[in-house]
Formats: sequence, structure tokens, C-alpha cells
Amino acid sequence: MDWGMENRLAQVIPSDGRCLFMPIDHGYFQGPTRNLENPWNTLEPLLPYSDAVFVTRGVLRSCIVPAKSKPIVLRVSGGTSMVGDNLANEGITTSMEEAIRLNASAVGISVFIGSDYEKENLLNLSSLVSEGERYGIPVMAVTAVGRELEKRDARYLGLCCRIAAELGAKVVKTYWCEEFDKVVDGCPVPVIMAGGPQVDTEREVFDFVHDGMVRGAIGVNLGRNIWQNEAPVAMIRAIRYIVHEGGTAEEADELYRSAKTGVR
Ligand code: 5RP
Repeated sequence: MDWGMENRLAQVIPSDGRCLFMPIDHGYFQGPTRNLENPWNTLEPLLPYSDAVFVTRGVLRSCIVPAKSKPIVLRVSGGTSMVGDNLANEGITTSMEEAIRLNASAVGISVFIGSDYEKENLLNLSSLVSEGERYGIPVMAVTAVGRELEKRDARYLGLCCRIAAELGAKVVKTYWCEEFDKVVDGCPVPVIMAGGPQVDTEREVFDFVHDGMVRGAIGVNLGRNIWQNEAPVAMIRAIRYIVHEGGTAEEADELYRSAKTGVR
């Protein structure tokens, strides 16, 4: 790998090889998502515990204070919305030149595999990878399921991750699922877990993050289950403890509860 590419990857994946990305890109198709109405207010307290921020160019420029930022993974796909016909019909929204001007450490693009727009999505990923290779910018592929959350099983996600890696993604973001090791084992590049919509209890999040890490994920890109929680800082500290310190789900739960009440 060229020095620039390797250096940029090291900016977002620290030397222990594990990472916690903070995604605040949801507005690009959902509008002002709950608790993300003012992105900087949401993000600022979480920054000390985040290794990188996943964000669009618009929110980056308008809301993130440059001198206080963490490394940026720039979302460069979009063009659809929750109220439109088909979430999968995304294009590339931001050029590689602009990503470089914004000092992005990496770029991210969604691929909706199995959708009507599979071919366009995958060719967009390929073009982005080609541009990234030219300038030394790593590409993170996001295996998106849109509204079809039931698609989250090892067979489907394993297929998506492998295809994204074959097309040259340096990192793949997918959902946790049962038998997550099958997803990781079939993917030749590092796999990161998204969280999805907020679940009922914190413990469920700690359980799946821990299980995914044990089964080979290198980290998380987990948003709503952190910043929609009633105690976002306690939540991110507990998840960081699993990702970077190898903590168990039970230990993370204890840390969450004591951090929430201000004891730790
Ligand atoms: C939105 C995204 C998000 O970055 C990704 O889904 C992670 O966020 P969450 O944990 O809230 O699902 O790609 O399109």
C-alpha cells in the first residue's frame, strides 16, 4: 500500500487496529433525525471518545469546528430521500478533489446490493475506488439495506461485504448479525459494524458489539444507539471500552450505569 493511503487509514484506525467512528451523516436522506437536529451540539461531547467522524460535506462545513475536529470519513454518496421512490438510487455527490480539499482521511459510499440500482451502485463504488487509488484516499463501502432491515443475515451481508471488497473498498461497514464470523471470514478487508435504529435496551447494543468484535470486526460506526440514548457520553464510553479495551458486555453495562450517574 502506498504511504499516503496507509497513513490516512492509520488516521482513522488507531495503532491497536480497532476503531470507533461516529456517524452523523443520517440527515443526507432522513432530514433532521432525532437528536441530530443540531449536529455540533450532538457531536462535541462525543468527540473525545471518537476516532473519526462520518459526515457529509454540508454538515462538515456548516457545523464542525475545524480546529476541534477528529479525522473525517466523508460520505460522498446520496441523491435520494426517505420520501422518494427508491433509497437505492444513489449517485456520487462529492468529488475526490473536494474530499482532498476538505482534508478527508477517507470517503464512504453506500451500495444497495440486490436492489434495482445494484449495478449503478457497484460501478460508482468502483469509480470511487479508482479515484481513491489515484490520490491515496481509502474508500469505505457501506452495505446499505434501506428500509429492509430483515435483510440483516450472514448470507446476504457476507455477499455484500465480499463484493464491496472485491471492487476495492479498503474497509466495509455492515450490520451485525447472527453468525457474524461468516461475514468477516469471507471478507478480505476489515469489517466495521453499524448500529441501525435505536434498540430497546443498552445491554442489547453492548451484546452485539461485543459479539461482533469477538467474531472479527475491527470496530463500529455506530450513531443512533449512542446519540439517541438518554446518556450519549456514558453510552460511547461503554462502547469504546468494548472496542478498544476488550471489555465484556457486562462490564460495559456497568460502566454505562456508573458513568450515567456521574460515578465514573
Ligand atoms: C446512514 C449511515 C450511518 O452512518 C450508519 O447507518 C451508522 O449509523 P447507525 O448506527 O445510526 O445505523 O450510513 O446512512
